[in-house]
Amino acid sequence: MKIYREKDYEAISLRAANILTAQLVLKQNSVLGLATGSSPIGTYKKLVENYKAGEISFRDVRTVNLDEYKGLKDSDPNSYHYFMQENLFSHIDIDPENVHLLSGVAEDSDLECEKYERMIRAIGGIDMQLLGIGRNGHIGFNEPDSSFTVNTHVVDLTESTIEANSRLFDDISQVPRQALSMGIGTIMHAKRILLIANGESKADAIAKVVAGPVTPEVPGSILQLHPDVTIVADDKALSKL
Ligand code: GLP
Repeated sequence: MKIYREKDYEAISLRAANILTAQLVLKQNSVLGLATGSSPIGTYKKLVENYKAGEISFRDVRTVNLDEYKGLKDSDPNSYHYFMQENLFSHIDIDPENVHLLSGVAEDSDLECEKYERMIRAIGGIDMQLLGIGRNGHIGFNEPDSSFTVNTHVVDLTESTIEANSRLFDDISQVPRQALSMGIGTIMHAKRILLIANGESKADAIAKVVAGPVTPEVPGSILQLHPDVTIVADDKALSKL
């Protein structure tokens, strides 16, 4: 694992955007695995700046997102579809055909997950996967469990995740109790992984992910076994390492 220690959120965002930009310079038609949440917002902003400055184009890029809440329509402001449009896709030259997200309202969610897994394989797998980290060490929506779930699947969200994510909803009762998420295997098959974390609330998770035992109780700990992981974090997130 390579760890970059940055002074603040701004510096994390700049570093992460530069790494993603370098990936697109290296391979114009990369498949990017994308994440949502507060952590990547600054990274997307800088990526858009790099695009507007003419440094990169997304014309040949394909994207696959990690997860989506079950039950939320694409047009719901709390959906990850909406988040991605707002924070990235509407600002860049990506072909909408090349954007892939799990549907939260598919009639058959299990089938939706199977199709998503097959689609990722069919487009050649993920070149670089961007990740945030949950306070309990979850990646995507892979919650602590007694075993690692390999493929894209439907997840029951834990109370701690529902509570952490409720800040973005009007009321905690509106937070969906389930989500569709890439599995641990889907994420681990990405050729390169870039994880960003800021703030004290992530310190426990980062310490366990980097230096704790590899266990499904801390899903992100499996990243210790991946050959190409870069973590970009601030002092606070690295304070318990
Ligand atoms: C959600 C997402 C994760 C994200 C996590 C942390 O649960 N499914 O992909 O990493 O939240 O979010 P934040 O960056 O807002 O702390």
